[in-house]
Amino acid sequence: EHRFLDSLAALSPEAPAVHRVQSRLADEPAPRAGGFENEPDTDPALADNREWGRAILAAVPSSVLGDATIEAARIESADDLDDVVASAVAAAPGWAALGGAGRAAILRRVAAELSSRRAELIEVAASETGKTLAEGDVEVSEAVDFANYYATLAEELDDVDGARFVPSTLTLVTPPWNFPIAIPLGSTAAALAAGSSVVLKPAGQAKRCGAVLAEALWAAGVPRDVLRLVDVDEGDLGRRLVSHPSVDRVILTGAFETAELFRSWRPDLDLLAETSGKNAIIVTPSADLDLAAADVIRSAFGHAGQKCSAASLVILVGSVATSERFRRQLVDAASTLRVGLPSDPVTQMGPLVEPASGKLLGALTTLAPGESWLVEPRRLDEEGRFWSPGIRAGVAPGSEFHRVEYFGPVLGIMTAATRDEAIELQNATDFGLTAGLHTLDPRELGEWLDRVEAGNLYVNRGITGAIVRRQPFGGWKRSAVGAGGKAGGPNYLVHLGSWEPDALEA
Ligand code: SER
Repeated sequence: EHRFLDSLAALSPEAPAVHRVQSRLADEPAPRAGGFENEPDTDPALADNREWGRAILAAVPSSVLGDATIEAARIESADDLDDVVASAVAAAPGWAALGGAGRAAILRRVAAELSSRRAELIEVAASETGKTLAEGDVEVSEAVDFANYYATLAEELDDVDGARFVPSTLTLVTPPWNFPIAIPLGSTAAALAAGSSVVLKPAGQAKRCGAVLAEALWAAGVPRDVLRLVDVDEGDLGRRLVSHPSVDRVILTGAFETAELFRSWRPDLDLLAETSGKNAIIVTPSADLDLAAADVIRSAFGHAGQKCSAASLVILVGSVATSERFRRQLVDAASTLRVGLPSDPVTQMGPLVEPASGKLLGALTTLAPGESWLVEPRRLDEEGRFWSPGIRAGVAPGSEFHRVEYFGPVLGIMTAATRDEAIELQNATDFGLTAGLHTLDPRELGEWLDRVEAGNLYVNRGITGAIVRRQPFGGWKRSAVGAGGKAGGPNYLVHLGSWEPDALEA
């Protein structure tokens, strides 16, 4: 999303019919051999790419799958689980002994493997989680970026004078279903780059994505015992895995409640967790309102609002709050989004991963006192997986909609008389994952940067789609639990081990 497009990339040998558009920043030096460069997304403006995309979509079933079983990785008993853990622990010293440079070489091959499996990954993500082709495509780019970027960081670990990096032995990776490619791959690649063995337990709704990623990692040369894929139920065996004394650390991306559950199972758990969000974009009277409307809509309804980074609230300041034109733009944009199956190339918003229920169903169907529908969401199927986007006006400070994360296609509008008030509303949640500001006034930007409480800040841009190295991603407040650390940033790996004085220097 929002990558800067500046030149055509060379054709990759693995996918000769696919042209990509290069995504590096225009003012960046040309890529150096061995240096890090973001992977370009597939450019849909090129006819060959559209044909390539149509072939992928033709393979996506018309009902969304999910809950596959990965037979080869299935864990049925505590003994199975202990065997997997023991094999990964046994393999760890050999992996660490490769050194940062040795591991980096393998991770760069992982990046190439992922690139060559771009179509398969997009297809499986669409089949399992309802992601559109474009949404799957940017995830593959991000996964490639994670592998390449952590490779460069692994090499740097070798270069520190006077200290030696000692990786954890075994890292458990428990990713979510909403980024079924980028997040499991990113967390796994980070732990591998640091020198740890990994047990990867994909989300229940995205197991086949996990299996394709594991195949790519193994094909690139990551030993099978250094990376173990497990298909394990989230009941007693899941608890046994998280609490296993041989697991040094868990990298979790998921709900805040899941992090709390893990901690309740094992209070001393070394956890690196990115958790829930309740994210808002402020739009001030100095903003480019046309740009703001487009960014709000994309941030709210991309992947049907099921991103932890999604905009759940927009806070309109002063005259924007009464701007009929701005409201009409939001209404027009939301009500013309094409909702449908990911297998249909015109779909802009796919289904929910599961039928709406509980809090989300309430948010899609009921209003609190003082609220009204600017755009009323409509259920489009029997099951309740397909909804048209909804926008509610009149969300009151401190109300349920102001505080609760819903993970679905519903946006709330709040209004503020002043910029101060808007920042207070933006900060007045337990979470601090992403936050946006639309303004063309640098003084307003300065004020906001001093006061906003979120890990990932976006100005005059949508608030989803962080890009590896450019926008390291991690939360604040209840959006992070444990060591913190920003994925895709320069300091991530150091949370995955410890430093010891170098014996020769000491
Ligand atoms: N990295 C994702 C985003 O920025 C969220 O996990 O949207």
